[in-house]
Amino acid sequence: MQKNVTIAKGQLVECVIESLAFGGQGVARINDFVIFVDNAIPGQRVQAVITRKKQRYAIARVASIISESPFTIKPSCIHFGSCGGCLLQNLQYEQQIRAKGAQVEEILRRLGGLPHLEIAATLPSERVYHYRNKMEFSFSRHRWLTPEEISSGAHYDDAPYLGLHARGFYDKVIDLSECHLIDPIAIKILHIVRQTARDSGLPAYSTAEHDGFWRYLIVRRAQTKDLMVNVVTSEFRAEIADELRRRLMDCPQITSLLNGVTRSRSSVAFCEEEHLLAGRATMSEQIGSYFFTLSANSFFQTNTLQARKLYDIVLEYAELDGDEIVYDLYCGTGTISIYLSGHVARVVGFEAVESAVINARENCRSNGIDNCAFVLGDLKDELAQTHKVTEQFGRPDIVILDPPRGGMHPKTVRDVLALQPKRIVHVSCNPTTMARELSVLGESYDVTRVQPVDMFPHTAHIEAVAQLIRREHISASAALS
Ligand SMILES: C[S@@+](CC[C@H](N)C(=O)[O-])C[C@H]1O[C@@H](n2cnc3c(N)ncnc32)[C@H](O)[C@@H]1O
Repeated sequence: MQKNVTIAKGQLVECVIESLAFGGQGVARINDFVIFVDNAIPGQRVQAVITRKKQRYAIARVASIISESPFTIKPSCIHFGSCGGCLLQNLQYEQQIRAKGAQVEEILRRLGGLPHLEIAATLPSERVYHYRNKMEFSFSRHRWLTPEEISSGAHYDDAPYLGLHARGFYDKVIDLSECHLIDPIAIKILHIVRQTARDSGLPAYSTAEHDGFWRYLIVRRAQTKDLMVNVVTSEFRAEIADELRRRLMDCPQITSLLNGVTRSRSSVAFCEEEHLLAGRATMSEQIGSYFFTLSANSFFQTNTLQARKLYDIVLEYAELDGDEIVYDLYCGTGTISIYLSGHVARVVGFEAVESAVINARENCRSNGIDNCAFVLGDLKDELAQTHKVTEQFGRPDIVILDPPRGGMHPKTVRDVLALQPKRIVHVSCNPTTMARELSVLGESYDVTRVQPVDMFPHTAHIEAVAQLIRREHISASAALS
């Protein structure tokens, strides 16, 4: 251990990586001062350069590895190290899930007001490669160059590049030649679409300048083998659509070919217009014995096999008797609603995206389910008039929460408290927002069980499910006031 070290920006320090922080950085300590080291894994002894110094911690990057971690393994992908898609391919999978479980526990204890919480061991993903049913590739005018390419004088022209963002660079992409997270057919499609873009002479979209044509390529591959390809551009051009259709005939596996259009400045691949170029406008995905119809804009859990395990935990934590009313908040295409429908009297799903609600209703019809209703709207408004909602649908015995990564609107958390369900099952892909919400819900509820579920091997992301049970001494009038 180095004694009396003063940490300063630019300084070279030697340290051992003890653990992984939420977000994927290695954590080291020098005289109890915490250093977050980019691209480092537990067990490595490294020389690191301090890149930022704060009062209570510093950020560093690895300058050299002095000794390798006993947990290290050979990454599968040639882009590993520079690609922002995977951060942990070089760490044994058992260590990845152990580290992610520890992060969830630490975050919920510290930010969730749950200092004594103990959580279950992280549920591993059955597949650690090719587990994703959807990849969103971005076009860019800027290609990420390796340090070797830079030192050999390489440069890039403006040709549209297509891939995933380079680690830490939102304006540069890795011009991918492989990716092991999705079915290999996606990479064949990526090569065809990239070449079409280059041959078109049209530029990639630039967020900074809000101009350019090519924006995203979204590929979705379902367990049913349905394959949806959505090429997202900033406007519709018939000649480009024809060319895409012609060239993608080389992939007869495609069941839906779309050209989505978005004019939005935001970097979310949500299309305002959809032009169907070939096949069907929707695709079908399967979880357990249920089939789900999805449109291009609809959310669906990206690891289908693991989604089933996630929903099994939701079912277990809901502890259903068969006669309950369940509210499924942030229901997407109604997957959880449908998964629970056979175990309850009624499910009411709430969702802001219209196409997802249309899919949810269609999914009930096609699965022969008649005890689910869906409300379209922003939960911030839809739940605000608690009495109106409960008059229409009945007071919920159970509430399921599955908010997006940014978490719930604070008003919605309070509205859920006002509904006073017996139990809440909170599903979240972001332990920090989950902690904040559990801390507010803790006014009336005890967190009884937490199960982390790894939906995203090799990435820093982790999903968790929490069971909350209402403390019976909270009176109805107090909770509604
Ligand atoms: C993490 S997804 C969960 C979907 C679903 N439970 C599932 O397992 O597939 C979150 C969903 O919440 C929806 N959403 C986001 N903000 C919302 C809001 N303010 N009101 C209603 N729905 C919202 C999104 O469109 C998305 O479908």
